[in-house]
This record gives sequence, structure tokens and C-alpha cells, in this order.
Amino acid sequence: MGGTGFDLKSCARPNILALQPYRCARDDYKDDGKITLLDANENAHGPSLIGLRDQFLDSIGSKLIKFSGLNRYPDPHQNELKQLLCDLRQSPKHSNHLKPDNLFVGVGSDEAIDALIRCFCVPSVDKILICPPTYGMYTVASQINDVEVVKVPLDVEGESPSFDIRPSSIQEILRSDPRIKLIYICSPGNPTGKLVDQRKLKYLLEMNNWNGIIVLDEAYIDFAGEGQSLACWVNDYPNLVVMQTLSKAFGMAGIRLGFAFAPVEIARLLNNLKAPYNISSPTSTLATQAVSGPGLTVMSNHRELIIEQRARVIQELPRFSKIGRFLGGSDANFLLVEILNAPKDSGGVPDNVSAREVYTRLAETKGIVVRYRGDELGCKGCLRITIGTDQETNKLIRKLGEVFQEI
Ligand SMILES: Cc1ncc(COP(=O)(O)O)c(C=O)c1O
Repeated sequence: MGGTGFDLKSCARPNILALQPYRCARDDYKDDGKITLLDANENAHGPSLIGLRDQFLDSIGSKLIKFSGLNRYPDPHQNELKQLLCDLRQSPKHSNHLKPDNLFVGVGSDEAIDALIRCFCVPSVDKILICPPTYGMYTVASQINDVEVVKVPLDVEGESPSFDIRPSSIQEILRSDPRIKLIYICSPGNPTGKLVDQRKLKYLLEMNNWNGIIVLDEAYIDFAGEGQSLACWVNDYPNLVVMQTLSKAFGMAGIRLGFAFAPVEIARLLNNLKAPYNISSPTSTLATQAVSGPGLTVMSNHRELIIEQRARVIQELPRFSKIGRFLGGSDANFLLVEILNAPKDSGGVPDNVSAREVYTRLAETKGIVVRYRGDELGCKGCLRITIGTDQETNKLIRKLGEVFQEI
């Protein structure tokens, strides 16, 4: 499957294709606890952690992080964790099996965003394409790498915009600008909270005569319902990369663990260019716990609670007369909602001044921080509200009520 025109050998940067990755002795000999490790200039006396050395960071599950092992470099390949991530995303409907060679694991998916740009875009020559409103790090990573950003907005026109991608407009721009190497598509979108239409994505993946990569950012995919991830498609399309993270549904933002499923050849390039020990051993151990057995049950339970609260916020916020529509979708753990300048039945319309006022009052006088998104394309007057616990929803509703009384 896939369109014609994609050729990895001419799409990736020549210096990356030619890169000899850093090799260490532990590529050949794994630390099994029995061999004497005199290869990596570590400190055999252990970590500088008085009082903690013999303690465990965590005592849940069978795998523990013993602080006394922190003087050793972590596994550079993370194959055990990668296998669990493949098991997590393997779709029973899909005959092509995901395998550890399909994966890049990084310090958050933010590392994958940057690694892809470094892999495919020659600074000050190549470009990326994004579809605003979207996640801000695609642009930041491009700017850091001196790579231009071309924008083809989501469909934000009309009375009820779909906030979906516009494949034929994207195709037109790609035809006129051969320097575009990467397209970042966020699904569910941030800040739109909406899944991208799979048929539109297929249209792009089956486009002929384009030599570039489509990156699908699925950071919020677990909130979108069972079986929505398209990670398995990376073995159907030679130029698709699907990024995910443990920062959202798995509640592990603090350990910084993101990953990208990719066709084996692309995953190899990404792994060649990463720092050899990018995933720390505490991160790896905790991630392994999160994506196996009891960790998955915890994630599922927390997700249920978040989905319940999401439904509650959708139901209860419109009772306030200055709350407008929810824009986008409800496929993520946040909602994008309009703040009006007057009550709905008096002709109130979404308004940035009012949205800013609500945002600031909530933060400065009520102790609740949401995100002002009114300046994003198609998001006039909008706040993006993350869905929290039951108590947090109670507080949100109560404090929003107070703010609306005051303004
Ligand atoms: C769409 C999207 N992608 C990626 C990320 C980054 O995730 P990570 O914590 O894995 O770097 C975020 C974080 O908010 C996000 O909203």
C-alpha cells in the first residue's frame, strides 16, 4: 500500500543515512548481573545517594528500581519495553505484526518530534507542514532546527467547523513546494480534541509523487475509544510514523517517555541518531510497569473516571449562560469551550476579552488554571479545559459560577 513517490534513500538527509551510530560494548554484551563491567567508565562504588542506596524507588509489582544500580548506564535499546508497547497497540484485525524494530523510544514524544525533523529536514532548505490549530512544539522544534513551517489550517470555516484536515489543499501545497518533507497531524487534535477522519488520512498516505513522511501524533489516543490507534498502519504505509506518549492516559508525564511507531527502516534511522542512553533506568522500569499487567488496569480505570468527568463537564458547563459551544470533539482528556461576551439568549458571541477575563480570574482569584486558546485559528473566545478528578470538576463548576457572577 501507499502512494508512489516515496523513497527513503532520497527523502532522509544524506548525513543521517550515512551515520554510523554510536556503539557501546553493551550492544554486544548485556548486563546480566553476573559479568564484571569495566567498559563504560562508570563508578563501581554506586551512586552518591546516602541513605537511599539500598532502598527501592518503588515497591509495586515485581520489578523494582534499586537505587544502588543507578551507577550503571541504562539499556540503550529498550527491547523489553518496546515489545510491551507493540503488544499494547497490536490490533487483532491487523495481520502485520508490530515488533520492537518498529519503535523509537524517546524522552517524551517531544524527542520524537525533534528527531524526525533532524532526520528528514536539511536546515534552512527543507520544510514541515502543520495544520493549525495544533500542538505548538512542531513549530518550536522546527525553529530550533532552522526549518520553515508551512501551514494548511484545519477546516475552521463556517458555522460549525469540522476541525478536520483538508487533504486536497495539503496535496496542492505539496505539489507546489517539493521542499516539504514532513506533515505533522495531531489526532485527537490539540486543542481541538477531535480524531482525524481516517479516510482523509488514507488519501494523504496514498498520494502519488510525494517524497515525504506523514507523522500522526496520537498523544491522546487512549481517550478516543477502543481500537482507534493507527499504529499498526506503519507496516502498511512506508512513510507513516505514529507517535504516542505515556504522559496522558498513563499519567506518567514525570518520567518523560514517548515513542514513535515507524516502518523498520525509518525506526532504524531515528535510533541511529538518538543519544545512546536516552531512556533512564528509572524511566524504563516505571514505563514497563505502566504498560504491563496491573499498570494497564490502573490506566483503564483512570481513563474511565476521566471519561465520566468529561461527560459531566459537557453536560454541566452549558448551564452557565455565558458558556457557548464546545468546539472540535470530545476524543481527548480536555475540552475546548467558547466564552461569550453576553448571555446566550441575549445574543452573546464568543469573545477573546471575556475568555481572557475568565481565564485570569480563575487563575488569580479561584486557584484554577486552564488554558486560554482564543488566539488560535478558529478558536475565538475559547478556553481549553483539562478534565480532572470528580473533586476538581466540582471546584471548576463552582468557581466558574462565581466568576460569571462577578463579570
Ligand atoms: C499533541 C501532543 N503531542 C505531544 C505532546 C508531548 O508529549 P510528551 O510529554 O510525550 O513529550 C503533547 C503534550 O502536551 C501534546 O499535546
